[in-house]
Amino acid sequence: METLDWKSLPFGYIKTDYNVRCYYRNNQWGEIEISSSEYINLHMAATGLHYGQEAFEGMKAFMGKDGRIRLFRWDENSMRMQKSAEGIMMAKVPDELFHQCIVKAVQMNKRFVPPYGSGASLYIRPLLIGSGAQVGVKAASEYLFLVFITPVGPYFKEGFKPVKMMITRTFDRAAPLGTGHIKVGGNYAASLRALDVAHHKGYASALFLDAREKKFIDEAGPANFFGIKDNTYVTPESNSILPSITNKSLQQIALDVGMKVEIRPVPVEELDTFEEVGACGTAAVITPVESIVDEDTGKIYQISKTGEPGEISRRLYEKLTGIQTGDLPDPYGWIEFVS
Ligand code: PLP
Ligand code: COI
Repeated sequence: METLDWKSLPFGYIKTDYNVRCYYRNNQWGEIEISSSEYINLHMAATGLHYGQEAFEGMKAFMGKDGRIRLFRWDENSMRMQKSAEGIMMAKVPDELFHQCIVKAVQMNKRFVPPYGSGASLYIRPLLIGSGAQVGVKAASEYLFLVFITPVGPYFKEGFKPVKMMITRTFDRAAPLGTGHIKVGGNYAASLRALDVAHHKGYASALFLDAREKKFIDEAGPANFFGIKDNTYVTPESNSILPSITNKSLQQIALDVGMKVEIRPVPVEELDTFEEVGACGTAAVITPVESIVDEDTGKIYQISKTGEPGEISRRLYEKLTGIQTGDLPDPYGWIEFVS
């Protein structure tokens, strides 16, 4: 077992032993290769470099009390990567290949799986890039699928502590009929300046609004938004947000603890009425939101009066992470054992 300071791991890159690669050439996927290099050899005219023909995924594996490693809902990530591939005309990675590569990447790097109870987990990053050369704006005919892993701590350094966010009206992350609903690199490039402004002003993240009217909440940087009121879990419906697997899981849990779930446009002013607000995602897990400032008007929506996470967010958090680590039963079949 690697001796890292597991409890204070940031969400970042740590060199591990191996990564897994597979190449698509002549209209077919080749054999899986294991590499110990952190570098890839890429054609300088690769479409992934010039025209953003690139998509990625993010999922986690967890060590249980029983010493077994658990993968969380990998099939959803695989499906989403296929949607991303379709959206920007890349070769799709079949589920079986996706599965083989992530399992291999975890198994080859077992010593980097954070121990049970450390609060850290193993982040799995599949990456699909157009590796074939083009100079005209066209899809590549060759692709590289790569999976690396890295042990991570919380995305927002506060962990399960309420953070402050800022509504940005200066930047859009994705256009209404653009690529916001798939996980392609260009969306993240488009979000960098807004996130940088938010960080400089002391906020954990920017909150993006719908690009067309700037009336409705889209999402919270690299995480979906949810609000809670009247025993109801409310989360935005929008074509320009990433369908979060964490969000989908929380909706299921909310229903099963007797809450209602509403997926619909969420006007900014509704922030005044939520009892609790959170950001959710693989990296963010649930990050409670304490207050949100509107960059334009200066209005502050004060959600948490105590600076502590709300009771319902805590309950959802405990259920979700309990299933992931095996502390709670998994009635949904979300977990697959890797070892
Ligand atoms: N929204 C964006 C823009 C993201 O990058 C992510 C992270 O993947 C999420 C939401 C959360 O999605 P998930 O819960 O599937 O990780
Ligand atoms: C995730 O939650 O997996 C993400 O991809 C968020 C971010 C690091 C891009």
